[in-house]
Amino acid sequence: MSKPLSRRDMLSRAGLAIGGAVAFGAIQACSSEDDPAVCPDPEACPEPVECPAPTECENPNPLPTAFPYEDHISASFQFDLATVQEEAYHGYFAAPGTTAMRGCCFGTYSGLLADLQRQVGKPFTHLPVNFGLFGSGGIAGFGSACGATLGGIFIINMIVKGASRNPMITDLLRWYERTPFPQYLPQTVNGGENSAILSYTAESIADAQTIAASHLCHTSLSHWGSTKGVPVNGPDKHARCARLCADVAKRVATVLNTYLAGSRTYTASFALDTSSAGCVSCHPATALKTSPTLAGPNASAMQCSTCHPTQTTYPHPK
Ligand code: HEC
Ligand code: HEC
Repeated sequence: MSKPLSRRDMLSRAGLAIGGAVAFGAIQACSSEDDPAVCPDPEACPEPVECPAPTECENPNPLPTAFPYEDHISASFQFDLATVQEEAYHGYFAAPGTTAMRGCCFGTYSGLLADLQRQVGKPFTHLPVNFGLFGSGGIAGFGSACGATLGGIFIINMIVKGASRNPMITDLLRWYERTPFPQYLPQTVNGGENSAILSYTAESIADAQTIAASHLCHTSLSHWGSTKGVPVNGPDKHARCARLCADVAKRVATVLNTYLAGSRTYTASFALDTSSAGCVSCHPATALKTSPTLAGPNASAMQCSTCHPTQTTYPHPK
């Protein structure tokens, strides 16, 4: 039976439901005080205390804590690639009616998440779409890992279990290092990329592409801007990075489609390039550099020559 809650009940239940950050009036319980169930959707319990009986409440499970989520996704699920790409592309730009660009991490993450929310539902519908906002420009504009890769990695990380997770992530980063961007041709060009210097049509987009040889935003974007003669903060940057969101989202969706429909084990398909493998053989993580003539240790699986172009021969030039 529904009944009004005390203020104390409502506060504690509000905290349980959504971390307390919610308008007080929106919280309704859907059960007696003996049953601590919280109505999973406050919208379904409009003002002031008219709530569904517990049996009428939607079952909120699986909750986000039932992590990772591949067991909640059926073998017949497939990302809709065209929709994911278009939404990842538009997600990069400002939301309709606003001016702040949401950026690459939001674009890729939200494009993939929206398809999971539509097709799978919970637990994905419990997750905040704005989670990726911090990641743009290589984490808050810092030029670290490309936010589009981060957005895709969030999705891989929340779905894929155990021993498959890290190889799938490493492969995504290696694929990114070696892939020419941007590639995507949107169904509708977003107003946020108007008046660009370069052209991004089917005929011209190859001329706007570079291969980064790095998953770092700094390297990827600066190399592109310098090679193409465009600034990295204007319409061209937006055209490039929004399309790149779609490219990365497509890659993640394609890999996950194969994984989820198959045996749900993943084997790495991108090896370290030959030159970098040579570096690592002399510079393993275990190397003990106790004298200047010894090789020092290296802690990365990135392509080495991008940052160490002068060490590609040995003896290294002094
Ligand atoms: C045959 C073994 C060998 C290979 C292959 C090798 N290194 Fe080295 N590296 C060394 C040794 C030994 C040193 C330290 C003394 C020296 O410079 O010769 C060194 C030094 C360095 C240094 C310190 C700066 C310098 O030049 O002394 C860097 C950075 C470095 N290597 C990076 C790399 C990278 C990147 C690669 C692959 C592109 C690579 N190394 C391949 C053995 C190797
Ligand atoms: C994103 C750029 C970047 C990449 C990619 C990168 N490094 Fe480095 N590495 C640096 C910087 C910067 C330093 C610190 C400056 C220095 O010592 O040269 C460094 C330091 C090193 C050192 C210590 C050098 C010393 O002074 O003894 C080694 C060895 C090294 N890197 C090897 C590698 C190897 C092997 C790879 C590939 C698996 C690699 N690095 C990839 C940027 C990079």
